[in-house]
Amino acid sequence: MSLPLPRWFAHRGGGALAPENTLAGIRLAARMGFAAVEFDVMLSGDGTPVLIHDETLERTTNGLGLVCETPDARLFALDAGDGERIPRYADAVAVCRQYGLLANVEIKPAAGFERQTAEVVACQSAALWLGARVKPLISSFSLEALEIARDLAPQTQRGVLFEQVPADWLSTVRRLQAVTLHCAARHLSDDILAEAKANDIPVLCYTVNTEKAAKSLFSRGVSGVFTDRLDLFASETSAYKGLHLGG
Ligand code: G3P
Ligand code: MG
Repeated sequence: MSLPLPRWFAHRGGGALAPENTLAGIRLAARMGFAAVEFDVMLSGDGTPVLIHDETLERTTNGLGLVCETPDARLFALDAGDGERIPRYADAVAVCRQYGLLANVEIKPAAGFERQTAEVVACQSAALWLGARVKPLISSFSLEALEIARDLAPQTQRGVLFEQVPADWLSTVRRLQAVTLHCAARHLSDDILAEAKANDIPVLCYTVNTEKAAKSLFSRGVSGVFTDRLDLFASETSAYKGLHLGG
């Protein structure tokens, strides 16, 4: 299986130019020429996978309380910004497939829901992306979630996500049969980059919101960056680096 790896990923859908984790954001990223988007997936109170970052509704919607305790009927009536609704994962996949976007699906389980979230996202992913030209890349800070994704949807590619990359990261990548390493740009050392390069593992960094930072990371060997500043990188988005994942 091979997958072109774009250099720029629109973070949380449309970055800072649209309400985060919404279909409007994903569509905007596609229209601006982005070939890849990242979004966060969590379970609703009814166990439906939806796009949202926080465990609570307050910051990004006009709702109150925990996402994992909110039934769908209430969740999907909320305003997620500019009249946008919280999308179901299935709806986000449909938009990504329509535009041929590479989706980095970040499994973002609420605390205590790691297994359940991973099971649902893995199983839905295998079905929703069936036959897609551009396959998704599943990532998570939760290694437990990635382990479950590996077991339930082995054909769906995985990236291991760390804030700060631990010394034993490579054995984790191998164990999870992951194809990429994702991490916070500010903590990334040249030693890790050298080890990734030696093992042919692309490194993707979040969140990169200046041209200077992006240039520096690419020159150090980083393969891709997640950005909120779609406006800064739109002119460069159609340029692929020509990297392929998974051989
Ligand atoms: O997946 C990269 C990045 O999105 C991780 O951080 O908190 O924005 O989901 P966060
Ligand atoms: Mg994320």
